Amino acid sequence: MLVGVPKEIKNQESRVGLTPASVKELVLRGHQVLVQKDAGAAIGLSDAMYEGAGAEIVDDAAEIFARAGMIVKVKEPQPNECAMLRQDQILYTYLHLAPDADQTKALVESGAVCIAYETITGDNGGLPLLAPMSEVAGRMAIQAGAAHLEKSKGGMGLLLGGVPGVAPGHVAIIGAGVVGTNALQMAVGIGARVTILDKNIDRLRQLDLVFGNRISTMFSSAHSIEQAVLDADLVVGGVLVPGAAAPKLVTRAMISRMKAGAVVVDVAIDQGGCFETSHATTHQDPTYVVDGVVHYCVANMPGAVARTSTFALNNATITHALALADKGWQKALKANTHLKNGLNVCRGHVTYAAVANALGYPYVDADSLLG
Ligand SMILES: NC(=O)c1ccc[n+]([C@@H]2O[C@H](COP(=O)([O-])OP(=O)(O)OC[C@H]3O[C@@H](n4cnc5c(N)ncnc54)[C@H](O)[C@@H]3O)[C@@H](O)[C@H]2O)c1
Repeated sequence: MLVGVPKEIKNQESRVGLTPASVKELVLRGHQVLVQKDAGAAIGLSDAMYEGAGAEIVDDAAEIFARAGMIVKVKEPQPNECAMLRQDQILYTYLHLAPDADQTKALVESGAVCIAYETITGDNGGLPLLAPMSEVAGRMAIQAGAAHLEKSKGGMGLLLGGVPGVAPGHVAIIGAGVVGTNALQMAVGIGARVTILDKNIDRLRQLDLVFGNRISTMFSSAHSIEQAVLDADLVVGGVLVPGAAAPKLVTRAMISRMKAGAVVVDVAIDQGGCFETSHATTHQDPTYVVDGVVHYCVANMPGAVARTSTFALNNATITHALALADKGWQKALKANTHLKNGLNVCRGHVTYAAVANALGYPYVDADSLLG
């Protein structure tokens, strides 16, 4: 198959759909790969590296969209990219269609086969192509939180790990899923005192077994959250209720009683946030202060570490990319239910129930389009 990798054009996006290593995997299996000039240059992946892996470098995106059988990207296609998609061309990328009527309409009109990373499922029930970005964001939450505890960034002037003779800071993490666990690992590593809260008692049991008395686990309730938040120097919000907006677990009243110069990092901001006082911010202007508490609520945290995020994403996407290239979309989707769950739009139909319901399209079962 001819696989195409256009340079990402969304504002501030430096990630790239395929790394040179992923290109090599495809080429070794007899596929051809077109990569747009400078597609990975911003994160140190030069055209020479792609050529070394066997890719052909082309000047403009239009040629890639015109020639390729499968387009591999990171972010959802922008309007001019949607306009270049062709009937039966595979689009393999993050889509996030439910809140995006314009993009959905454009993809339906294109007739392309649109597979969304974020709805591909895994054997363990999770969303394995979303997990790497949660790993990145969870780890970054402690890095960003620690930086903003510094005086110059508006914080109270606290070193999370303390020093001999001075107690470490207290990190409270709400939600013990992928974000929470990765934040926990970093916070423990940095030497902070850590409390983690979740409603899932089995998850807390697992963490207790791994981390023992280096952490405190708490069953999440309004009372335990208040206790942990009021004592914390840094609070990380990493809750998720699938398919719903994040619950507002930390109220304005709690924020107003926190220590002056404490920091909250609301990773769940992409689902509306779990602090009552949260609103989305950007990497250009990541924080604001409410009642003396610094709020860091960047909605696309992995974008700041685009190089790491690109490699982490490729680790999760390459297996299905190879299957799609080897077998074609119909056979690949028939052979793998998890990959089939990624099909959101196909040949003019919406094939993902939540998107159809959200945007008022008739839902068409993917199986009916697989031949
Ligand atoms: N801001 C960003 O850049 C960014 C990046 C990646 C992920 N995220 C977001 O972070 C959030 C968490 O993602 P994840 O991958 O860790 O999800 P996950 O499903 O792995 O974990 C969520 C956890 O929240 C827990 N939870 C649910 N309700 C709770 C409650 N009332 N109290 C305590 N815990 C509760 C669940 O039991 C689960 O363990 C999601 O909204 C995700 O979209 C944001």
